[in-house]
Amino acid sequence: MIVKNVALLGLLGAVSAQSASVTDMASAAQSTDAATECKPYSAKIVNDIKDQFPTIWQPATIVDGDTAAQQKYDEIKQIIPSSIKPKGTHSGDFSQTTPTYDKSDPDCWYTFNKCTQPKIEGLGEDLSKLPEPNTWGLGFDDGPNCSHNTFYNFLSDNDLTATMFYIGSNVMNWPYQAQRGVEDGHQICLHTWSHHYMTSFDDEGAFAELYYPIKAIKAITGVTPTCWRPPFGDVDDRIRIIAEGLGLRTAVWEYDTNDWKMSSGTSKDQVKQNYEKVINDAKGGKFDTAGTIVLTHEITGDTMDMFMEMYPEIKENFDYIVPFYAATNTTNLYVETGDDVKKGQTFAEYVKDVYNGTSVEAATSTNTNDHPDPTMTGTAGPLATVANPTVASIEGAAASDVTNSDDGDSAAFSISGTSSLLSVAALMVSTTFVALSL
Ligand SMILES: *[C@@H]1O[C@H](CO)[C@@H](O)[C@H](O)[C@H]1NC(C)=O
Ligand SMILES: *[C@@H]1O[C@H](CO)[C@@H](O)[C@H](O)[C@H]1NC(C)=O
Ligand SMILES: *[C@@H]1O[C@H](CO)[C@@H](O)[C@H](O)[C@H]1NC(C)=O
Ligand SMILES: [Zn+2]
Repeated sequence: MIVKNVALLGLLGAVSAQSASVTDMASAAQSTDAATECKPYSAKIVNDIKDQFPTIWQPATIVDGDTAAQQKYDEIKQIIPSSIKPKGTHSGDFSQTTPTYDKSDPDCWYTFNKCTQPKIEGLGEDLSKLPEPNTWGLGFDDGPNCSHNTFYNFLSDNDLTATMFYIGSNVMNWPYQAQRGVEDGHQICLHTWSHHYMTSFDDEGAFAELYYPIKAIKAITGVTPTCWRPPFGDVDDRIRIIAEGLGLRTAVWEYDTNDWKMSSGTSKDQVKQNYEKVINDAKGGKFDTAGTIVLTHEITGDTMDMFMEMYPEIKENFDYIVPFYAATNTTNLYVETGDDVKKGQTFAEYVKDVYNGTSVEAATSTNTNDHPDPTMTGTAGPLATVANPTVASIEGAAASDVTNSDDGDSAAFSISGTSSLLSVAALMVSTTFVALSL
């Protein structure tokens, strides 16, 4: 890795040109002093590619001249249900939407009523709970935060592997921190480009909000993520289809610590009580048949400190604390499958490794295809010829696929189709991102 001590990331908006002593990769990786860690730096790996990306922290659109993105969008566009319209504003003002929104929640809009089972048949259910009893699904949103070294050291020291939902704009600002996430063996997923309410975007914007963080994570860390979490949980079936077209599984949560609100006035005690609620539910046996996902953040030093403070109690009251991939027996974490790329594990394998040989029942099902199977939405058949199909036509196509998908032979789908639209995700996944060598 070439590290250039050029204190200028003007385009990235991260720095003042005055910061002459720049954090290099080594100190970014080692310092545990927040001021040092958070000193903006210029990295060649980012400078070389930044023109290919939207402006950081701004709602994304496809970058002018980005034909690869445009082509991908054109493919996915054909399966986006035109019946589901954008909602509210990018900053989450839904006052014009909710009063007239059909109370039966036809769009499976999580923001409206915590819907996690899509109404469009064939779309996978969002991950919000875990099949394993007494298990805490460990995930952190909004990273990579510049000051995360103390926290990441803590995770390593405690044999904790987490699912990290990185914001594309943070990855561009803090590439070495993002690299550390991969080096430490965490599961890297994404959390959009600019962290706005996803249902507010038009189709192209929503696509770009997902496409560019995938591209940034691939370029900077070498892996192509296969999962995402919507900021504020704001997702509906239109957004889920776009995500699935990009090979992304959608994860939300069951409990919310609201830890991020500490930076806007919520007290530490309140956040502690939110954690305690989950812990008390564990004590009361609520997770005796299925585990849970608790929303926690890497967003500031305070949220990271809070997790470290609560960890002993979590550990005491949950049998297992695992990354999402282990809880779902997902054995391939990324699109890349080379020897140098971290593999997933089944729950049983993970527990055996991390919990000193503890043996749980062997996995009954192994999910080797973490990225959603493209067949449901992108298969040959009716969809291939219908531009902007309605929800009904997607449902029809999905229903006719069910027999196919039940035979468990997913390989047949990704290679056998004949239409131009087929296997949108398979194309994405196997061609474009793997081929990106930035
Ligand atoms: C990262 O954490 C630091 C320390 O709490 C905070 O000052 C900073 O604003 C955070 N960065 C982002 C992008 O949220
Ligand atoms: C596994 O054993 C080691 C050494 O005895 C101990 O330090 C560690 O905490 C144990 N890990 C768990 C998850 O029990
Ligand atoms: C993963 O394997 C375990 C057994 O270790 C099983 O109980 C569980 O249902 C499997 N989970 C999924 C999502 O298939
Ligand atoms: Zn977030």
